[in-house]
Amino acid sequence: MSYEEVYKSWQTDPEGFWMQAAQSIDWDTPPTKALTVHEDGLYDWYADGMTNTCWNAVDRHVDAGNGDRTAIIHDSPITGSKTEITFAELRDRVARLAGALRDKGIEKGDRVIIYMPMVPEALEAMLACARLGAIHSVVFGGFASNELAVRIDDAKPKAIIAASCGLEPGRVVRYKPLIDGAIDLSEHKPEFCVIFQREQDLATLGPLDHDWHAFQQGVTPAECLPVEGTHPAYILYTSGTTGQPKGVIRQTAGQLVALNWTMKNIYNVDPGDVFWAASDVGWVVGHSYICYGPLIHGNTTVVFEGKPIGTPDAGTFWRVISEHKVKSFFTAPTAFRAVKREDPTGAFVKKYDLSCLGQVYLAGERADPDTITWAQTQLNVPVIDHWWQTETGWAIAANPLGIEELPTKLGSPAVAMPGYQVEILDDGGHPIKPGELGAIAVKLPLPPCTLPTLWNAEDRFRDSYLTTFPGYYETGDAGMIDEDGYLYIMARTDDVINVAGHRLSTGGMEEVLADHPDVAECAVIGVTDQLKGQMPVGFLCLNNGSGRAPSDVVGEVVQLVRDKIGPVAAFKQAVVVERLPKTRSGKILRGVMVKIADGQGYKMPATIDDPAILDEIKDALQTIGYAKTS
Ligand code: COA
Ligand code: AMP
Repeated sequence: MSYEEVYKSWQTDPEGFWMQAAQSIDWDTPPTKALTVHEDGLYDWYADGMTNTCWNAVDRHVDAGNGDRTAIIHDSPITGSKTEITFAELRDRVARLAGALRDKGIEKGDRVIIYMPMVPEALEAMLACARLGAIHSVVFGGFASNELAVRIDDAKPKAIIAASCGLEPGRVVRYKPLIDGAIDLSEHKPEFCVIFQREQDLATLGPLDHDWHAFQQGVTPAECLPVEGTHPAYILYTSGTTGQPKGVIRQTAGQLVALNWTMKNIYNVDPGDVFWAASDVGWVVGHSYICYGPLIHGNTTVVFEGKPIGTPDAGTFWRVISEHKVKSFFTAPTAFRAVKREDPTGAFVKKYDLSCLGQVYLAGERADPDTITWAQTQLNVPVIDHWWQTETGWAIAANPLGIEELPTKLGSPAVAMPGYQVEILDDGGHPIKPGELGAIAVKLPLPPCTLPTLWNAEDRFRDSYLTTFPGYYETGDAGMIDEDGYLYIMARTDDVINVAGHRLSTGGMEEVLADHPDVAECAVIGVTDQLKGQMPVGFLCLNNGSGRAPSDVVGEVVQLVRDKIGPVAAFKQAVVVERLPKTRSGKILRGVMVKIADGQGYKMPATIDDPAILDEIKDALQTIGYAKTS
């Protein structure tokens, strides 16, 4: 079937399409229908089915005689180690860990926070929770105590599973002090922590801490507990417009069905093939395509701990692909930009036999045409840009290689996937013509795996996604669709920015800056950056008579963001200005500031009284090297 036929088959009979896809999943009780719409307008997928995520990701492959197949390859250039775990070993390890957690009182529905680097144990912890029906919430290691505390207070976990440390080039990130700091800050107190000790930094364990290995000794392994199709598999916090992150809920059955469908149809891999997503388990890409998707589909997944450059060189990606026979490779454009900068002519690419590689996928931020062309030239395989969000868990738009390879249009993540009716709307919510810019919205209901609501925040869920355009899901992205149905993602409509593929809230950073005693007013904007796509830049107005040297305050706020949000915010640039450009009603014109920074030829809106304010902002941006226009 062609893409068009597959998409039409979904449009004609969505229920039939998703029931058919559900047949590839093992059920304890098969669902009798795919979609259930509730009176309040919210809906669920596979509500009357019973199944277990861990069974589908691990045990069923052992049952089917594939226990000897490699489930996880851990490749860690940063520690110099490589290990492989078969599906049978993974089942035993996960069952034992789940047994130990159960013995300590973890039950179905309990939340467990996982704070771990890129080690197989992170996946084992996720799968052990799934085995018991516990709801995990993985927190990215680059977030600091305060962010962890916010998540602890929202998810109210019974336990935290963590490693003693993560490893960044030239630096050991000690997790235990960060966890202790978070528990001090949070109102909710987890009952216990499980710490996986890494030799690079052994944590000192307190009375409520258990050693990962010791607490598993002599336990009875746990079996997989069937749960309802709607049971939350996990909560993943993502940036919204404020410092309070949104807890995106992923439901069990929808995730199993949709991710399994994507592995062949989008990523073009068959069971047994090696799949590698060079991301982190702390992000949605890590959940869907380091852990669950490949394992559910019976693929080998690569867990990579390192950086694309410098560990040891710009050939790391190609070495891993070649050595482990990776067929489909997924990363963020920023990683390729980093490699391209070090190796523009592909000298490192040529050192490796990449005949195993079938295709490459990019997501997480806009894939610029230069980067795609470079990758196409160097690798000589299809380079697929695809667009999705934490909220959806899988691609809204892609080039579905496993169905057919559609022509690539540079700058476009191609076409809508079955399940998604994507439309471009004007401010009044009316669909607009091909080629015109507007808000990107998706007709409800969204397909399986997408968020049913936000954890503990249904009103915020409705406000954030369902209210602006009734009958649609508001993606928060703006863009257009061309005559051929290809989508173009141009910008966010809110204050979310993407720094090195990491989704961050400028609103959250502003909250931190505003806390500084000398800061009267501030704005943080995302400006275009050659390597990271965007970088946050802060503008500060100091309190009258503060008397502080601007450079001192700048230094302090940079440190404050690092301490409160974490190094991942990459907040390194800020300037002190007299005033900020505002509308008559007092709203800061962040969009105007971004345009000045990006040199897009700003035209003064009638609402600003004082052009001198804009000159000041322009000067400030030039001072720190971000304004391209004079
Ligand atoms: N734990 C602790 N700190 C972390 C971290 C983690 N898991 N991940 C990143 N950080 C730190 C980095 O060490 C860096 O700290 P520094 O300011 O002291 O140097 C800071 O956070 C910013 O990190 P990052 O933006 O990732 O920059 P980088 O220079 O370390 O690496 C890239 C740049 C492009 C090589 C890297 O970001 C990359 O490979 N990105 C791919 C992104 C990705 O996978 N995104 C997921 C969506 S697919
Ligand atoms: P996250 O939730 O971290 O996956 O970030 C989702 C956001 O990243 C989207 O809403 C987009 O703004 C951006 N994004 C993801 N993939 C793409 C893409 N292929 N092209 C452009 N922007 C993207």
